[in-house]
Amino acid sequence: MSSAKPRLYIFDTTLRDGEQSPGCSMNLKEKLLVAAQLELLRVDAIEAGFAASSPGDFESVREIARVVRQATVASLCRCLTKDIDAGWQALREAVRPRLHLFLATSPLHMQYKLKMSPDAVREQAAAMVRYARNLCPEVEFSCEDASRSEPEFLYRVVEDVIRAGARIINLPDTVGYAVPEQYGDMIRGVLAHVPNVGEAIISVHCHNDLGLGVANSLAAVQAGARQVECTINGIGERAGNAALEEVIMALRTRPDYFVAAAEVDTTRIYNASRSVIIATGSRVQPNKAIVGENAFAHEAGIHQHGVMAHAGTYEIMTPESVGIPRNRMVLGKHSGRHAFESRLTELGFHLEGPRIQELFVEFKVLADRKKTVSDEDIEALARGSAAQAEELLKLDRFVVQSGNDIPASCTVFVRKQGELLHHSATGDGPIDAAFKAIEGVLGFSLALENFALSSVTGGEDAQGEASVKLRAKDRLYHGHGLSTDVIEASIKAYLSAVNALLSEEAYAARIGTAAKAEA
Ligand code: KIV
Ligand code: ZN
Repeated sequence: MSSAKPRLYIFDTTLRDGEQSPGCSMNLKEKLLVAAQLELLRVDAIEAGFAASSPGDFESVREIARVVRQATVASLCRCLTKDIDAGWQALREAVRPRLHLFLATSPLHMQYKLKMSPDAVREQAAAMVRYARNLCPEVEFSCEDASRSEPEFLYRVVEDVIRAGARIINLPDTVGYAVPEQYGDMIRGVLAHVPNVGEAIISVHCHNDLGLGVANSLAAVQAGARQVECTINGIGERAGNAALEEVIMALRTRPDYFVAAAEVDTTRIYNASRSVIIATGSRVQPNKAIVGENAFAHEAGIHQHGVMAHAGTYEIMTPESVGIPRNRMVLGKHSGRHAFESRLTELGFHLEGPRIQELFVEFKVLADRKKTVSDEDIEALARGSAAQAEELLKLDRFVVQSGNDIPASCTVFVRKQGELLHHSATGDGPIDAAFKAIEGVLGFSLALENFALSSVTGGEDAQGEASVKLRAKDRLYHGHGLSTDVIEASIKAYLSAVNALLSEEAYAARIGTAAKAEA
């Protein structure tokens, strides 16, 4: 949709700032699933990771740079040549690559973290932007902790890096300290006092420590910022980043007020949000604006009556405008592969033939168990399978015994490369017994960090969706499982987290071997 207003660029950092927050790590498959949803949403830029931070991050940035066709793909870099080189190596196949450099400019960060004088910071920032510009056509520079920087010093750094070739200048509220009016004034100050500011786009990046991330971002837009950095579901360091869906829907719902407009497809918001939940295993609270399960639910009778008489009485935007699916019962056990495939495509999943066939088999099993299969069921199947790590261990079958006056026990049969392994265990309830039985099969224990169970739809035969987070060697691995049987969903979720761990070990072993071979 084009608009006469100035364009606001949306820079999504779910895969970098979001992914680096506790409990939100994603493997490559999960990141690719989210990146595909971000493309459908038509964000302007995707920050794919921090290529120099680990071999896994490098690989993710490189793969995302290869597959994304429309959006700019960015990699974060410290102001160090080795980071910039790694970022560029990972990005070079991108259609629109961007190196995103950052260096702190607040007195606190310069003195205690960087241990650099203000003059040295200015020199390093300009030198590294010049270095990056020699490699990459587009460079963004972030003045980390800009909202706590001395205004005069900030103006000079911004002027230097624009002269050195940066074309996007980001002024983050790194610690979520700003308040809207003051933050807007900071943007106005930069626009008024930096002589060459017309050569760059001013960007903002607000953390949510005081719950003001979205408000600060919007105040900055009114003050002249033309790029907002944000994340799906607001995930990110500590209390998170400004939530993309809230920024976008505020602009879309109040065009009478806001001076700029974004060009994203809002009807893709819900799917993007769900894909991040599946990929990270981190749910959103029910009353979360735009994507929470109660965001469009009207409970009070007086509200329901009003909405029935005229939706506008209590609804400032429609569920359809953010892509929340209606519970359309379209497919059942007699539906054929063709109908299933077209439904998948309508829901935004473009999968390869063999994946569709695998999903179709799962769909048939589900259709046998459930009276009706809704869009939500199909989406859950498709999103889940797209994010699954390689299935090194696969559930064959399980037997469970439990009651309120006997100890719960479970025997789990698992296939590992054709071999059928099994183990029995007792536990504190059937799910605990099942998890212990899997540990028995593995021959080692894992720390269960989080376990959640919810239903995909309403009704007695609803599918249960289980999510499991396991901790091993200071890393979190998550998995999810779907079934009309909650114990089966839980076992599948546990095995999928184990598979994420085992695939990463296999990947690390491959990288180790490759590194040795090169040496
Ligand atoms: O919060 C922050 O300042 C950042 C920068 C690295 C952009 O994430
Ligand atoms: Zn940040």
